[in-house]
Amino acid sequence: MPTVQIKDEARIGSDARVKLQPSVYLEKLFQTGTPDLSWMNQHGEWGMRAKPGNLGLRLKDIEIGSYGVVPDHGGDHRSMAPRGAVVPSDVPSLGFTINEKAECWADNAMELYEEAVARQWSSARDIPWSELKPLPDDLEHAMCQLCTFLTEVEFIAADAPTRWMSQINQDFLEVKLFLATQAMDEARHTDVFRKRALANGGGLGKASALSQLSLKRIFDSPSFSAQTARLHLLGEGFVLTMFRQGEFIAPSRVDSEIFRRCMQDESRHVGYGTMHLRAQLKARPELAEEIHDQLDDAESILLQLFSVPESVEPMAILLGGGLKHFDQGMEMQANLWRRIVNEYLQRCDSAGLDRRPRCLLPTDFTKLFAA
Ligand SMILES: [Fe+2]
Ligand SMILES: [Fe+2]
Repeated sequence: MPTVQIKDEARIGSDARVKLQPSVYLEKLFQTGTPDLSWMNQHGEWGMRAKPGNLGLRLKDIEIGSYGVVPDHGGDHRSMAPRGAVVPSDVPSLGFTINEKAECWADNAMELYEEAVARQWSSARDIPWSELKPLPDDLEHAMCQLCTFLTEVEFIAADAPTRWMSQINQDFLEVKLFLATQAMDEARHTDVFRKRALANGGGLGKASALSQLSLKRIFDSPSFSAQTARLHLLGEGFVLTMFRQGEFIAPSRVDSEIFRRCMQDESRHVGYGTMHLRAQLKARPELAEEIHDQLDDAESILLQLFSVPESVEPMAILLGGGLKHFDQGMEMQANLWRRIVNEYLQRCDSAGLDRRPRCLLPTDFTKLFAA
């Protein structure tokens, strides 16, 4: 069997620190019949009663006493021992590499987690699939191609953040809980668009090398915050604005409902990313240059996406309401594009990133290829 090499120098513990030895405890217990009970004297802050609010016992309701203090620096033991518990000195390290709060924190993470839990939906039950009716060929082709693109890109927003999630110190559990809900949301988005492509007489269309390149760059981001800029601010922000215009894009009520539900989920993901970057840039303003470099690259790839017909034409057909209204659809796409860029720049402003002077994305759709 191949040996897994763990090169992470941050590991400060190892499995070897846990002494595995035959227990004399049970033998003694059976002999004397007297329980040890020493664990009853080893505990965190004790005697509090968390009170549920109108919406039940939420995470914020248990952020009481010392349990509500999120440290700026995560525990050096780097194990999964819960924040606030007594931590034995021999716990093995899991080698977390994100140990500073600012590297992952967002002030809205807890609220977004609660909202995500409360608003989970099922692509099997909550979409009125039985109402789908045959569409004209041009609209069905366009919708299926758009679903192919969305099926292609949606899961990166689960794969990439969770790659970092396992590196985040357990003391920042609120962030990890939120990222876990994002992974579930993205699983549902991937499955709902795949289902839509197969549900109305069409099927999957053509995948895109450029989309794959943009996903790979997200996956290869050098830090969690750099990934957040590429993924949450630009990538998910792009689809969020698109879903917000879903009623104009959707050729049926079923499609409109899919976009509406995905939009609610995406707004949480984008909300987390924006607030995280704000916290990170406040703590480490010098990181702005790394973020800008990432966005330079991400924006230039996004521009390239519009050099292929399968990226441009389906949206124009859907927005125009058919191939015979293609010109009108292109005009509507130009408006959508302007909205996408404006909302993206507003998010950068909100995160404290002065992106406007450097942004490669023109608000004028006709100047896309002159950029
Ligand atoms: Fe998504
Ligand atoms: Fe998302």
